Amino acid sequence: MVETVRTLPALRAALAGFKRENRRVALVPTMGNLHDGHLGLVKMARRHADVCITSIFVNPTQFGPGEDFDSYPRTLEADVEALAGVGCDLVWQPAIKTMYPLGESFMVRVPQNLAGQLCGRSRPGHFDGVASVVLRLFSQVQPDVAVFGEKDFQQLLIIRRMVQDLSLPVEIAGAPIARTPDGLAMSSRNAYLTDAERRAAPRLYAELSSTAQALAAGGDFELLKEAAWARLAAAGFRPDYLEWRNARDLGEPADNLPARLFVAAWLGRARLIDNVPVAVFEVSGVPG
Ligand code: PAJ
Repeated sequence: MVETVRTLPALRAALAGFKRENRRVALVPTMGNLHDGHLGLVKMARRHADVCITSIFVNPTQFGPGEDFDSYPRTLEADVEALAGVGCDLVWQPAIKTMYPLGESFMVRVPQNLAGQLCGRSRPGHFDGVASVVLRLFSQVQPDVAVFGEKDFQQLLIIRRMVQDLSLPVEIAGAPIARTPDGLAMSSRNAYLTDAERRAAPRLYAELSSTAQALAAGGDFELLKEAAWARLAAAGFRPDYLEWRNARDLGEPADNLPARLFVAAWLGRARLIDNVPVAVFEVSGVPG
């Protein structure tokens, strides 16, 4: 059984024990309702450190008005059991009052070039909430390394930038996207899909992959986007964005930078997101 800790004194006592034994600590921040994608992060954390702490906290400050904070699935018992199965050492499950003890909370403001686009455009304030809670988790747990999934690539990039900008003494590791065999990126929000929507959902990854391939082959992005968007709409999706960005700072793609294609679309009650690398090969400089 994994120990679940809910108060700061109990967390600090456990951390002091790890420190005494000189053990390297990894943190995996989550909002619970864990699936194999989350568990993959824990497995990666175990490869990077001696001790793995998983936090479970549904963070109110990253949900906008009318979003699914109240209905977000909370499955603590099953989560703790799943974490025990993959070798997590401790579950940090703070109460809201522990995470946000003051009525007026100090918040991180993420720069607009990172937070004002992709998911941040339709979810204003979302990444400020994410960065604020992750900074709190870092200061509570003081991990040597923290693991985040590429499923939320924009989030991973913002956390990396925050760590760099604030000189936080933590290493950030990124984990690849875990998918079901039909290609759908695993997500707690997939539970919102009806059976018919669940059958349609893998179309998102299929369109994303074929668009990335066509783009790498030299296709025109705007034309490809329009066509993919129309096919998704015909399959019942309400697309939010499909964008091509460099993977360093989410700016315009450039020849010398790795690039990714990002998508978000509503399917019924669920807002699904996904992203893939774009393998753009340089045409010039090929030895003749
Ligand atoms: P949550 O959505 O629970 O995700 C927790 C971590 O799991 C994130 O780093 C996310 O990228 C990763 N993850 C989710 N699905 C994944 C998949 N299919 N493959 C790989 N990794 C996956 O992201 C959050 O919570 C919150 O914003 C949080 C960082 C905990 C701050 O509140």
